[in-house]
This record gives sequence, C-alpha cells and structure tokens, in this order.
Amino acid sequence: MKNYFLAPSILSADFIRLGEEINESLSSGGDVIHFDVMDGHYVENLTFGPAILKSIRNFKMDVPIDVHLMTYPVDKFIPMFADAGATFITFHPEATNHLDHTINLIKSYGCKVGLSFNPTTSLDYLDYTLDRLDIIVLMSVNPGFGGQNFIPFVLKKLSFVRNLIEKNKLNILLAVDGGVKVENIGKIARYGADFFVIGTSLFGSKNYKLAISLMRKELEKVSIIRKKI
Ligand code: DX5
Ligand code: ZN
Repeated sequence: MKNYFLAPSILSADFIRLGEEINESLSSGGDVIHFDVMDGHYVENLTFGPAILKSIRNFKMDVPIDVHLMTYPVDKFIPMFADAGATFITFHPEATNHLDHTINLIKSYGCKVGLSFNPTTSLDYLDYTLDRLDIIVLMSVNPGFGGQNFIPFVLKKLSFVRNLIEKNKLNILLAVDGGVKVENIGKIARYGADFFVIGTSLFGSKNYKLAISLMRKELEKVSIIRKKI
C-alpha cells in the first residue's frame, strides 16, 4: 500500500549529519523531503536557503522535494528554489500580492504548485485557484517552529477540502503540516489527508524505521486510493 505519502521535514533533523539523516529517513520509508524555508519576516524563525537545497538535490537526484516557502514576499524566491531543484513549491496565499501571478510563476519553472493555509486562514483562496493546484497544505500548527501540538479544529477544514477535491474530481494531494505523529495520523487520514509532513515525530525518535512503520500501520487501517506523485 503506497497511497499515502510521508514527508520527513528536515527542520527537525541533525544538521551536522544532514546527508545521513536524509538517507535514513528515506530508507526508512519516507517518500518526499519537506524543506521549510523561513525568512524571519513571514515567520519569526530563520532556516535554510537555495544553496542547501541544491546540495540535497545533487545528493538525491530522484527524490521529490517539497519546498515550503514561509517567506514574505514570495515571488523573488521562486526562481532560486526552482533552479536549485524544488519539485513542489508551496507558499502562503496571504504572503503574495498577486496570487494568480505567483501560481503561474511556479508553473513556468515546471514545478508543482502548492497553497499552504495557516490554521485560521480562510479557504476562500481556493475559489479561483483550485483546479491549478497540485497540493493543498493545511497547517495544523502556526508556522515557524517544529515540535508544536496539532490544532484539532483543522480537522474540520480538512474534511471540507477533501469534499471539495472529490466533488470536482481533481487529482490534488491534501497535506497536513504540523504535529503529526503515530497517535493521530490515522485520525487525520480519516478526515481526508493523504500527505503527511513528519518532523519531530520522526527525527526526534530513536528508530526511524519503527516510527514510519507504526505510522504506516495506522494508515493501513484507513483505505484510500491515490495516484503516485
Ligand atoms: C512548521 C513547519 C513544519 C514543521 C513540522 O512551520 O512548516 O514543516 O517542520 O514539524 P513537526 O512535525 O515537528 O510539527
Ligand atoms: Zn512545513
């Protein structure tokens, strides 16, 4: 069963051993590397930029890399991360002045497009964008830091978006980012998610293989058919 996607978030990795951490997270069953870009403007924290993305891309030519831009503004960073090897570029709609332009810009570089919604950001942004998106990310924590608790009211948003995708018969991934762990992944999947960002619950565990296999076991109890990325 490979219909669910697990995306190790390297924000929680040990940066001294980044290559090994990436290798181990993938060989343990991770599908996509989640790369959190924080700029100290859109969120308080600072993380990493295109040079590090490029090293990861050169190191792992085939792995999908999901670049989560928590930046303000958005557009000026798109060419840099696209050129450095992003597969997905996901951004926050309130961080751009021209949503339509930003979507087109990401597509013009051949990257998949994602919209990321903070817990209290309105889903109205989907009204005129839905059919052009490859992934919708519902933040289940306020962005900026790993290791926070899952915010339960996001489950309601999740089922709303799942219904929207099904109703319109669209092939869009539905991701949850923040506080995902063995104890709640099954429930989150039942509300409609099929893509899970996993930071602390993976890199904070002693045994990555075990952590991922426990998550997959929870997912096996839920059935859903999705296409491969
Ligand atoms: C938070 C980031 C997340 C973070 C999730 O702003 O977008 O991707 O790494 O970390 P955990 O899984 O620890 O909540
Ligand atoms: Zn993220």
